[in-house]
Amino acid sequence: MNTPLVVANWKMHGDQASCARLARQIVRALRHQPASAEVVLAPPFTALNAVQRRLSGSPIKLAAQNCHWEVQGAYTGEISPVMVRELGCTFVIVGHSERRHVFQESDDMIARKLAPVLRQGMRAILCVGETLDQRQAKKTATVIHRQLRIALKGLTKADIANSEIAYEPVWAIGTGQNATPKQISQVHRLIRKCLTNRFGPSAGKHARILYGGSVKPENVASLVAVEEIDGFLVGGASLQSETFLPIIRAFSQK
Ligand code: PGA
Repeated sequence: MNTPLVVANWKMHGDQASCARLARQIVRALRHQPASAEVVLAPPFTALNAVQRRLSGSPIKLAAQNCHWEVQGAYTGEISPVMVRELGCTFVIVGHSERRHVFQESDDMIARKLAPVLRQGMRAILCVGETLDQRQAKKTATVIHRQLRIALKGLTKADIANSEIAYEPVWAIGTGQNATPKQISQVHRLIRKCLTNRFGPSAGKHARILYGGSVKPENVASLVAVEEIDGFLVGGASLQSETFLPIIRAFSQK
């Protein structure tokens, strides 16, 4: 089995002090009782530095929630992959559904971000997922295929070895409504098949496919039991150590 990966996406929550405090609680808890999953924290840009200082010397990694595709230039309000790497990020979330739907990032824009993240020596966490309308219209497979095809165009086998895919059905994010184990298995298998077809069996087998969408301590046991799930991308429940730690620990029982 691939080493599980649990990513905390703190979105636009927390100031430097509260993010550093939460990071310290997680570091201490995992020092006391190491996790079998790899853990990554994605604070807001403004707290990256404060969190990075708490993480140094621990196995927990730092992620940016987004970045631009250019390394520098006249892009007011944007932040480049070089800048987030300089702050200690070793992962970047790319194509989160809030970027796609709230900020109108297209498949092409998302595709342009992947290579620069990888060229900076960071790992990319590429998010894909369908809306409720698309699911109800039975277009889930078509949407996921399209998102992957466009995003992964031009990437090599080595690039995919440095990437994770997160399946996040848009209708399950922040709604309290999870996808069922069956729905998740179906989509994760489809993603793995796409990767296998495009990059070969070894790349397909070793790619980590995460699930995200209302993962909570209350439902994590049933999700962790899903064979196709290699980890989680956690929003709301990652904002407190009391709810985030049980999600990390759930993989110790897998
Ligand atoms: P949620 O968010 O856990 O609050 O549903 C997940 C995400 O947006 O990555």
